Amino acid sequence: MLPPILQNLRIPVVASPMFIVSTPDLVIAQCKAGIVGSFPALNAREKDGEEIQLEAWLTRITEELDRHNQANPDRPAAPFAVNQIVHRSNARLERDIEICHRHKVPIWITSLGARPEVNAAAHDCGGIALHDIINNKFARKAIEKGADGLIAVAAGAGGHAGPQSPFALVQEIREWFDGPLLLSGAIATGRAVLAAKAMGADLAYIGSPFIATEEASAPSDYKRMICDSGAMDIVTSSLFTGVSGNYLAPSIRNAGLDPDDLEHADASSMNFSEGSSKPKAWSQIWGSGQGIGAVREILPAAERIERLAREYAEAKEELARF
Ligand SMILES: Cc1cc2nc3c(=O)[nH]c(=O)nc-3n(C[C@H](O)[C@H](O)[C@H](O)COP(=O)(O)O)c2cc1C
Repeated sequence: MLPPILQNLRIPVVASPMFIVSTPDLVIAQCKAGIVGSFPALNAREKDGEEIQLEAWLTRITEELDRHNQANPDRPAAPFAVNQIVHRSNARLERDIEICHRHKVPIWITSLGARPEVNAAAHDCGGIALHDIINNKFARKAIEKGADGLIAVAAGAGGHAGPQSPFALVQEIREWFDGPLLLSGAIATGRAVLAAKAMGADLAYIGSPFIATEEASAPSDYKRMICDSGAMDIVTSSLFTGVSGNYLAPSIRNAGLDPDDLEHADASSMNFSEGSSKPKAWSQIWGSGQGIGAVREILPAAERIERLAREYAEAKEELARF
């Protein structure tokens, strides 16, 4: 049984948090269209002496969604989520937890480390905590440390993807865990959302297709490259952040590197003090999962979600006929 906050979504989808890309415009559009919208807390950055952006973003998102709900009681917005990077190099973590707790963030997504105090803060303000993992061992650890649900990040996902097949990952987790389970990795159509559910996940966790939306905070060349690329254009490399991640090969070529001949880097080079573990020199190297073959045009987020909902309904109907 899903916690009430994850029930009543238009379709069983959580839009994943993406560094740089996910900002309030996108989150609000996603929630208004009926799926959970999210952003990494580290995207909200201010210069010294400026107003704290995370405060401003949370206030804006909460107020706009409240206004939407008052005006549309028949189709209220989905709740939103904030992602915390729980890595030792994230010097803002404590401050950001305090702010999210005070703003009563309803869904907390933690990545790169499971910490009981983050889960406790989520629970204390009435929220739930979902932790992203790439294998069954980390999944068990996350639940032991107090997460309410798991995000299984399988092969082909954008960002720090895992190496495992989604079939293997979901099956092993479902042997012992019957709580909320989200699945990510190259899910880009309504049919794929239904497939994730058929495998045993409760919800699909979708990132890369939302890069090619009008609201995404990404350069237009990046959005276009998403539309023009497919799975064969995605390269897995540890060079850019210290952990294995998936990137668009054309963006690697544009930076003067050979995507077929990249050096390895080790995890000790990870550093989130600037918001991402990717050095500024590589800011033009763009991340993406393998599912983007299904993404052909830049659309408003609501239209992308409308399409997913239509495809999901059609796939359900089609399968019911067998
Ligand atoms: C450009 C980009 C940036 C990302 N940044 C983050 C991040 O800051 N925090 C995080 O937890 N996951 C991040 N992710 C991973 C996503 O949350 C999610 O696991 C992934 O997008 C799902 O796979 P898909 O892109 O194939 O749908 C990022 C993914 C991409 C493509």
